[in-house]
Amino acid sequence: MIHGHVTAWALALILFVIALFLQKGGKDKGAKIVKMILRVVYLLIIGTGLGLIFMVSQIDVWYILKMVVGLWIIGLFEIILGKSAANRKTNILWIQFVVAWILVLYLGFHKLPMSIMYPQ
Ligand code: HEM
Repeated sequence: MIHGHVTAWALALILFVIALFLQKGGKDKGAKIVKMILRVVYLLIIGTGLGLIFMVSQIDVWYILKMVVGLWIIGLFEIILGKSAANRKTNILWIQFVVAWILVLYLGFHKLPMSIMYPQ
């Protein structure tokens, strides 16, 4: 489950970057297809994330925070793609993006116990 989760968000990040470059290069049709795939991958991230939550017997505040920051990143993927497609400013969103990633990596890899680093 944790490998599926990590694979899903890593894939989402790659697709997000590809969609962004396609949009910037004016390749709207390609960007549209990549964004559709990206939305399916969001469901995989949320599905595996919820699956992991259900495996935990004691859900504490760190798990809630992890879930919220994860959803925040998914929201940012969508808003950044939407705004950059419309040629609107995204500076503040990119700051949020960096902060959210630092938080999610800290919570996921450091603060919370499950990990791809250890055999389950
Ligand atoms: C793009 C969004 C997300 C990113 C980048 C992300 C990132 C991560 C990372 C880095 C880990 C740790 C993996 C490891 O230690 O090997 C993790 C674990 C986890 N994630 Fe996510 N996640 C995201 C979305 C979500 C969502 C939406 C949920 C809940 C619905 C969620 C729930 C969890 C849970 C429960 C764990 C296991 C924590 C543990 O006990 O160690 N994640 N995630």
